[in-house]
Amino acid sequence: MEDLKPREIVQELDKYIIGQDHAKRFVAIALRNRWRRRQVPQDLRDEIAPKNIILIGPTGVGKTEISRRLAKLADVPFLKVEATKFTEVGYVGRDVESMIRDLVEVTVNMMREKEEEEVALPAMKAAEERILDILLPPRRETQPFADAEGETTLEIVTRGDSNQDSTREKLRKMLHSGKFDDRYVDLEINERNTPVVEIFSNMGMEEVGFNFKDMLGGLMPKNTKKRKVKVSEAMEILTQQEAQGLVDMEKVVKKALSRVEESGIIFLDEIDKIAVGGGKGQGPDVSREGVQRDLLPIVEGTTVNTKYGMVKTDHILFIASGAFHMTKPSDLTPELQGRFPIRVELDSLTEHDFMRILTEPKNAIMLQYQELLKTEGVELVFTQDSVAEIASIAKEVNDRTENIGARRLHTVMECLLEDILYDAPEVPEKKITIGAEMVRAKLESIKEDEDLSRYIL
Ligand SMILES: Nc1ncnc2c1ncn2[C@@H]1O[C@H](COP(=O)(O)OP(=O)(O)OP(=O)(O)O)[C@@H](O)[C@H]1O
Ligand SMILES: [Mg+2]
Repeated sequence: MEDLKPREIVQELDKYIIGQDHAKRFVAIALRNRWRRRQVPQDLRDEIAPKNIILIGPTGVGKTEISRRLAKLADVPFLKVEATKFTEVGYVGRDVESMIRDLVEVTVNMMREKEEEEVALPAMKAAEERILDILLPPRRETQPFADAEGETTLEIVTRGDSNQDSTREKLRKMLHSGKFDDRYVDLEINERNTPVVEIFSNMGMEEVGFNFKDMLGGLMPKNTKKRKVKVSEAMEILTQQEAQGLVDMEKVVKKALSRVEESGIIFLDEIDKIAVGGGKGQGPDVSREGVQRDLLPIVEGTTVNTKYGMVKTDHILFIASGAFHMTKPSDLTPELQGRFPIRVELDSLTEHDFMRILTEPKNAIMLQYQELLKTEGVELVFTQDSVAEIASIAKEVNDRTENIGARRLHTVMECLLEDILYDAPEVPEKKITIGAEMVRAKLESIKEDEDLSRYIL
């Protein structure tokens, strides 16, 4: 996936995001450059730093969406954090390195799930055997047995005799055909109760928190509990247990760490809010500058200690984003500016863009509502002029109240379709056509009333 050519990446992004061609090009190049770096001879490879990007643009025009899609289509570890999160507590703020730990955590989970999917089949088979063992317990007999130490007993477990075998196969067939689905079996279920501990320290909550939890978790006795569950549920529980047992966690962690180092993407939102414009050095500015200072080593490349091991951040790609209404990228410290050499401005969305966003993307808003209503047997049709009308109203409300970009389309659509969404299960007419007239009738009065539209649209 990661060896997609820039043009292919842009084509993929086009399926979900309208316009913003510039931004798409740059993120595509950044992704390709990573792949290129890996082809470069070793001695130079480590010298090539990722070219981090700042996406500049008003709210709701696709900054986050582009980055998220990029990570998804390349199937690489991705984390979104707000830069302002680190200014919140006191001057030093939250431990900036925690973003790397969070990214590692996400990636480990991602890799584990993948691995578990891979062993799904053997896990299911093993679970089936265990259920059959419950339904038809293997025969156990004890025999006196003499060894060097003296008399003891020997337990013999028989699963093998032909009589039992054929019963077992019969049961297996019945299990497959779902005959036992409603029967209950006793199942031993592990419940490890980790006590809730909260520790406050200057190291940052989450770091101490999880190490401690793991430690205690290992010390606590495993609580197994007998529960009656349906066979179908037991199958699920046991499959999961078996899958967990089959997954080699050491391998998963190793893979995850190298994925983070080689292909991780961190989306750093609201970077404009940690820039310090104009007069420097007072109050909150100190903490903003502090966050920039803390960020720098991570972006430049450092080693962060996580509970899974050390992670080098040198080749993680950072995509920063911000509206930059009050500040400019040049208000960031020079060192940080140097680490974000690519700046892309995203365009404000036009009425025409809105029309396209409503209908064109693979996950287009209108399509979503159509699919939702299809589940009730209702066919929802939008005429071309209704699409234009919705886009025009969204644009107007954005201009008049607050510009929230494409997000406005969601609120407008929800308001427009309220009645239909409510009545859908009972309407006699199973095909509903929405025309421009209907859109106006429903939304005009709200739109005209500025106060009302502030609340509703
Ligand atoms: N160009 C676009 N094409 C398709 N959908 C879009 C576009 N821009 C925005 N959207 C829609 O609007 C929503 C919000 O967009 P997104 O989260 O990317 O905004 P943003 O630019 O990151 O804004 P903010 O600065 O507030 O974080 C997305 O979930 C998406 O559905
Ligand atoms: Mg965003």
